[in-house]
Amino acid sequence: MKAIMSRSIGGPETLVLEEIDDPVATDGQILVRVKASGVNFPDTLIIKDRYQFKPKRPFSPGAEFSGVVEAVGSGVRSFQVGDRVMGFSRWGSMAQKIAIAASRCVAIPDAMPFDEASAFILTYGTSYYALKERGALRSGETLLVLGAAGGVGLAAVEIGKAMGARVVAAVSTTEKATLVREHGADGAVIYPTAPFAPSSRRDAARLLKEACGPHGAHVVCDVVGGDYSEVALRAIAWEGRFLVVGFAAGIPQIPLNLALLKSCQIVGVFWGPWLDRDTQHLSHSAAELLKWYTSGALRPCISARFPLAEAGDAIAQLAARKALGKIVVNID
Ligand SMILES: NC(=O)c1ccc[n+]([C@@H]2O[C@H](COP(=O)([O-])OP(=O)(O)OC[C@H]3O[C@@H](n4cnc5c(N)ncnc54)[C@H](OP(=O)(O)O)[C@@H]3O)[C@@H](O)[C@H]2O)c1
Repeated sequence: MKAIMSRSIGGPETLVLEEIDDPVATDGQILVRVKASGVNFPDTLIIKDRYQFKPKRPFSPGAEFSGVVEAVGSGVRSFQVGDRVMGFSRWGSMAQKIAIAASRCVAIPDAMPFDEASAFILTYGTSYYALKERGALRSGETLLVLGAAGGVGLAAVEIGKAMGARVVAAVSTTEKATLVREHGADGAVIYPTAPFAPSSRRDAARLLKEACGPHGAHVVCDVVGGDYSEVALRAIAWEGRFLVVGFAAGIPQIPLNLALLKSCQIVGVFWGPWLDRDTQHLSHSAAELLKWYTSGALRPCISARFPLAEAGDAIAQLAARKALGKIVVNID
């Protein structure tokens, strides 16, 4: 089969298309003919050995996918040959086939196309875990989402609306502001570009506070980090929940007096290891997410599609902050 492979540590330009042996489904696994693979920020890190997980080289990136079951390993009862599935692979799905634990996969509803399915489980799953399980977001609360036009961010906007929150979406450009409004955000704020000079730090804090209103944001979903985290924390409500989801702009240093001043919680969110702890977590959360998808409340947004041979370009486009919603690599 063909696969995009990382053979040396480096950026997307180091990835190469190769012919490698087909994988085989072992106990508890299914073999999936991959149709599409969603691109995620972790793809930009894992190929540079800068992610929390460091697979042995050579490996293929690709943390989520959709496809059709081609073979079933022993002990698997949840899927049959021919089933349409999507799954969370962490890496390995920018390839024509993947052998993966059946417990990492979910059946795709008939009405869901493969490209949307390939861009669904990781970003919506992360935002679901963040807002529902870690943030305990309640109907009527104000949710502030940073990086709201990216994969996890746009999913948080839509899930926040599905949960009844008032959603304030913070982004870097007018094009991204238009997109978040189209996906349901009640308000959109364009923040300055980090690193912040003292004046842009004050501007960003003022913009976020004004947009969140006099009580501030009850929940902040931070997928960006860097200089953006502190200004968002300054806009949090009394006893709010600040969700630490990602560091696209770097790992911030937070003055902890801000947590005391708002009596707020700073809450870590790590979706993959949450799934590792209980196989029910994926199926239960996917069931609610797919119910919302079927009702039209969740509308995956795919702004660019690349063939497998150009998967490196797909990752480079996301790393350059150019993704509007998701980018997908079409494989079959
Ligand atoms: N905790 C978890 O379990 C978990 C799971 C999945 C992903 N993540 C993390 O969540 C973050 C977002 O992932 P994603 O796949 O949604 O990424 P994405 O689609 O690229 O979105 C990230 C957003 O961050 C903003 N950003 C600000 N500064 C940036 C910079 N220097 N470089 C790139 N983007 C920058 C961009 O929005 P603006 O241009 O509007 O600022 C961009 O849309 C990543 O850090 C990822 O590792 C965490």
